[in-house]
Amino acid sequence: MREFDEATITDAVLERVADTPDLRARRVSQALVKHLHAFIREIEPTEAEWEWGIRFLTETGGLCSDTRQEFILLSDTLGVSMLVDAINHRLPSGATETTVFGPFYAAPPEFDSGEDIRGHLQGRPMYVAGRVTDADGRPLVGAVVDVWHSDDQGFYDLQKFGDNPRYAGRGRFRSREDGRFHFWTIRPSAYPIPDDGPVGKMLRAQNRHPFRPEHIHFMVVAPGHRKLVTHIFAAGDQYLDSDVVFGVKKSLVEEYRAHHSGKAPDGRAMDGEWFSLEREFHLARVA
Ligand code: BEZ
Ligand code: FE
Repeated sequence: MREFDEATITDAVLERVADTPDLRARRVSQALVKHLHAFIREIEPTEAEWEWGIRFLTETGGLCSDTRQEFILLSDTLGVSMLVDAINHRLPSGATETTVFGPFYAAPPEFDSGEDIRGHLQGRPMYVAGRVTDADGRPLVGAVVDVWHSDDQGFYDLQKFGDNPRYAGRGRFRSREDGRFHFWTIRPSAYPIPDDGPVGKMLRAQNRHPFRPEHIHFMVVAPGHRKLVTHIFAAGDQYLDSDVVFGVKKSLVEEYRAHHSGKAPDGRAMDGEWFSLEREFHLARVA
């Protein structure tokens, strides 16, 4: 009978999984055992600590539902989501950079260019003009552009009205012949990610704040091109350097330009404070 000790247990487990028939599953199993054992060797947890770790993961799973995904939040706050994103989006130069998808997407209602997607969200008016092109700057016609963002208190529509959210601050547009689209909405706000669960406990233990800098989400899809999932962040936001999910890239920061009264680019007469954002989205070709 073979028996295992601290020195031999890792190789024994690696041997046991070495015949996993599916090659990808074999590689994953081997890497998981190798790194998990190395983690334990480095930490040398007490039994109470190990139990605590198991309880943490159990609570994380327990909070997951159709409307809350605590494991994704854990992946986001440990920088794993952005690492997976980076590995999967090594894009050619000229293409717009990607960032995390986040938990607040829902297939949005369709709007015509120029319409207002604010719905019941409160906030100061904002005019957004975009242009979709390929990585060389040639306009893409008929691209599907999904947009979503929070209200001026940092809440998404999905976080309100319990099980019956009323969509607001989200919409689907199609780019015109020149690749352009535009719409009205309200200016969103920086916000904390949901921090009333294990991820929040972890952040507090690590002395970290739970905030994301102000941003608007865009997902752009055009035939023959790679899907672009990104945000446009507001220049000057206090959390740009410390986004809790590590999603900020310099190339995705833009001025949310402030105006007072006057005429908006679409001719609308404005009264009081309003904002505008202009931005291009360059999609990489499918290889
Ligand atoms: C978001 O921007 O919607 C988001 C992304 C990751 C975690 C939580 C929220
Ligand atoms: Fe967001």
